[in-house]
Amino acid sequence: MPHRRKRDLIIKGFSKLLKEDKLKIVADLMDNQLETIELLKSFWYADTEKQKIFDEFSENTITNFYIPYGIAPNVVVNNRTYLVPMVIEESSVVAAASSSARFWSEHGGFHAEVKDTIKIGQVHFQWEGDKAKLTSVFDELKQRFRENTNTITANMEKRGGGILDFELMDMRDKLENYYQIKITFETMDSMGANFINSCLEETAKTLQEFVSFHPVFEGKEKEVVIIMAILSNYTPDCLVKVWVECPFKDLEGIDSSLTGEQFARKFETAVKIAEIDTFRATTHNKGIFNGIDAVAIATGNDFRAIEAAGHTYASRTGHYQSLSHVEIKNGKFKYWIELPLALGTVGGLTSLHPLAKHSLEMLGKPSAKELMMITAALGMANNFAAIRSLVTKGIQQGHMKMHLMNILNHFKATEKEKDKAVVYFSSHKVSFAEVGEFVKNLRLSR
Ligand code: MEV
Repeated sequence: MPHRRKRDLIIKGFSKLLKEDKLKIVADLMDNQLETIELLKSFWYADTEKQKIFDEFSENTITNFYIPYGIAPNVVVNNRTYLVPMVIEESSVVAAASSSARFWSEHGGFHAEVKDTIKIGQVHFQWEGDKAKLTSVFDELKQRFRENTNTITANMEKRGGGILDFELMDMRDKLENYYQIKITFETMDSMGANFINSCLEETAKTLQEFVSFHPVFEGKEKEVVIIMAILSNYTPDCLVKVWVECPFKDLEGIDSSLTGEQFARKFETAVKIAEIDTFRATTHNKGIFNGIDAVAIATGNDFRAIEAAGHTYASRTGHYQSLSHVEIKNGKFKYWIELPLALGTVGGLTSLHPLAKHSLEMLGKPSAKELMMITAALGMANNFAAIRSLVTKGIQQGHMKMHLMNILNHFKATEKEKDKAVVYFSSHKVSFAEVGEFVKNLRLSR
């Protein structure tokens, strides 16, 4: 029999093993087993209670993966100034956000408003019957939905939220016998995923029971096939808008070769390109999510849900486009971003993760609406910084400067070598090869 490589082994019951044993299995794959175990353990917290919190967030945890936690200062939103936490590995993002935030803090700050905070869930089902019958009893059915979800919604109602409405959606033109119960929710300061999904599963059960017992239905009509019940991460009615505006003269000096008006017009053209060209729009919006995701992670929010909603919103016209826009009118530059942001400041990781909890405390324990405005402002700050660089000196100069430390670490530069490199590269172009050469020459000249 051919020798089966260790990497090809199927492991049964991995999740049931002790952490130490999981670690050994992983180390066993590597050539340097002892070093592997040492490396992975070196990222454990010394405080076992703290480590336990992290182990229990997920399954099969063997260590912690660190990402830098930085601060963007001077973020002024609706006249309040925040120190905003950002968790991100990309070297230039916090610097870019900070420099935009500083710039706009001197020009009126970010203005923001939350348009609405409605979330959506769906019970997807198939049913073969007379739709008129279903419509005729829908008010009665809604009443039953409310009664049966009462135990789940009671607390949320006390906080001012709950289920807003149930709607029957006839989707049979898209798929045979396919309907939905579309439910709208207000989840106040929580993101509300668990609350929504619990309500949806209860609604699905109620629908099946109701149809099977109600006398108006007969034969096959008594059977509802529940396909699934799940929230939608598309939240077009949980929307935030952030904007800045200033006269052209405030944009003077951003680039020595452009007047304020020339800069504004070039910036506007760059944004228009992201409105018409999908390839550019994707990168443009990625830059926006650099800021948004970083705040979402720092505050214990689900950045995948936020990204998914944002990209769907960017395609709502049938054509994927920029989430930010510019208008130039009467000598003024007006620039705004609008996107769905389903964020929470209570529940989920927000209080379980010690640093997420700290982030929210540092932001002054904001409501979900306030956090939506701060987070969107950071998305805008990163977008502004990116476009500002792109239409003037290009992004590589700043990007590579920030990346310098990573390159120096790659060459295992000492603190002294780093200090010398920082001085030298403040007036020279940074590239991987140039930094390598610089470190090599320093070592030769010793
Ligand atoms: C890099 O992470 C983000 C940018 O590419 C965004 C943009 O091009 O607008 C700089």
